[in-house]
Amino acid sequence: MTLDRFIDEVKRRRTFAIISHPDAGKTTLTEKLLLYGGAIRLAGSVKSRKTQKHAVSDWMEIEKQRGISVTSSVLQFNYNNYCINILDTPGHQDFSEDTYRTLVAADSAVMVIDCAKGVEAQTKKLFHVCKMRNIPIFTFVNKLDRAGKDPFELMEEIEQVLGIRSYPMNWPIGTDGNFKGVYNRIDNQIELFEGGNHGQSVVSSVSGEVSDPVFKDLLGEHLHKQLMDEIELLDIAGDDFDLNKILKGELTPVFFGSAMTNFGVQPFLESFLEITTPPLARQSNLGLIDPETQNFTGFVFKIQANMNPAHRDRIAFIRICSGKFEKGMAVNHVRAKKVIKLSQPQQFLAQDRAVVEEAYPGDIIGVHDPGIFNIGDTLCQDASKIKYEGIPVFAPEHFAKVFAKDSMKRKQFLKGVDQLSEEGAIQVFKRPHVGVEELIIGVVGVLQFEVLEYRLKNEYGVDIQMQQLPYKYIRWVETEKFDPDTFSITMDTLIVEDQDDKPVLLFQNEWSIQKVEERNKNAVLKDISSRN
Ligand code: G4P
Repeated sequence: MTLDRFIDEVKRRRTFAIISHPDAGKTTLTEKLLLYGGAIRLAGSVKSRKTQKHAVSDWMEIEKQRGISVTSSVLQFNYNNYCINILDTPGHQDFSEDTYRTLVAADSAVMVIDCAKGVEAQTKKLFHVCKMRNIPIFTFVNKLDRAGKDPFELMEEIEQVLGIRSYPMNWPIGTDGNFKGVYNRIDNQIELFEGGNHGQSVVSSVSGEVSDPVFKDLLGEHLHKQLMDEIELLDIAGDDFDLNKILKGELTPVFFGSAMTNFGVQPFLESFLEITTPPLARQSNLGLIDPETQNFTGFVFKIQANMNPAHRDRIAFIRICSGKFEKGMAVNHVRAKKVIKLSQPQQFLAQDRAVVEEAYPGDIIGVHDPGIFNIGDTLCQDASKIKYEGIPVFAPEHFAKVFAKDSMKRKQFLKGVDQLSEEGAIQVFKRPHVGVEELIIGVVGVLQFEVLEYRLKNEYGVDIQMQQLPYKYIRWVETEKFDPDTFSITMDTLIVEDQDDKPVLLFQNEWSIQKVEERNKNAVLKDISSRN
């Protein structure tokens, strides 16, 4: 392969995550992007998904039952000459740890906002993670087919609540159940959509110059005048379009549409693909690594076991950062100081998996993990000791004592807990002198306990008993020599060990943390393990 073709392949990649508060329409929008990309022929309405089918990006049974996305999935498809990788993320806040990790693998983000609800709590949280990485953030204001807030009010809310400047790329024509089309501000065109079949297939439209008198007839005097007034207002009031600011995450381009009816989906997709960035250079211990570097490098951002009952296995998801990947390639596993062969690499499309022969920067591949990967591991083709930075680890905020109901199932129980912990879904602690007889599990969101219970039962055949504990804060103790018998703690503090046998303290309140710090001047308490 020539260098030129390699560079073309890199440049046509677009890898992004879709973020939103639950129910804003992330799953529907993802499905519609696949529809426009020709990856699916007919979009199952989200409603029917919840009863019989399930959205293509929802894998696990538990997701089907609850109608929420628990895990992030990866989907690849082509549109025009672009190769698109969508990283779907769970919207529910209890799974935000997984979402945060996924965002590290993305080069930009699409934020879906419900036009009636505006900026919601989870959108805010996820937005701030994107902001920390300075990646471009695009806004899709959804559900314009329904009654919602005034578009000007929504623009102001985005700016006020999120603290980011905004630039409406298009403007809705007709609101509150009368959504007819969009006005594209960049090329001064109006696009009016036609009824369609409730968004099951691609919607047709009529478009033309805004000055074309035909639109006065099509829209009617009143709506046409309203649009002209609004265009004038937008031109004098708002920010200018500034690509540089968009790429630095300082200005968000805003699109209006309805994922359900497909109105505005295609204009959004086309404009987004044109503006957003191809794979970005990534920070490592050896400095910024350009994606066009020939040496293959990548990092593991997610590990998941038993994703699909038809393939009972464990997959490590790798974001390719530079160089070309080829099936069967031998690479250095930097942390383990080992050379490993990446055989049977897979890519994901809907519920299918395909063995991938080659992949490029921006792509996500899944490789079989026989238990050798941790989240954050770097792989590289040459012998450099490269290590990518930036997989955040979150301190658990909920804790429970967990044991197998049937003591004969201990082995399966420990295996299951071990695997889920390596996936990053839970963190496992034990009490000194008690050991694995009684495990303490820490999670970031309480729903993760439900996933633990469900998955242990379904994948390992183990029923568990759980007793929630009152601890809310965790601190790793860093000291030369830790002796639990002499270390001074408060009555309500618990001493445990993490999986590397490092001492850890669980606190019920901040007052206790302060006290313990005062009483043990030589110890440093950290809310993130130094291993990470
Ligand atoms: P999520 O992944 O962000 O959680 O949202 P999802 O796509 O599952 O959509 C949540 C609900 O919002 C769904 O309805 C879906 O049909 C609806 N929805 C998504 N996009 C649009 C849109 O553009 N317009 C309208 N009107 N609705 C939209 P649901 O939970 O199945 O309930 P129901 O509407 O079927 O009763």
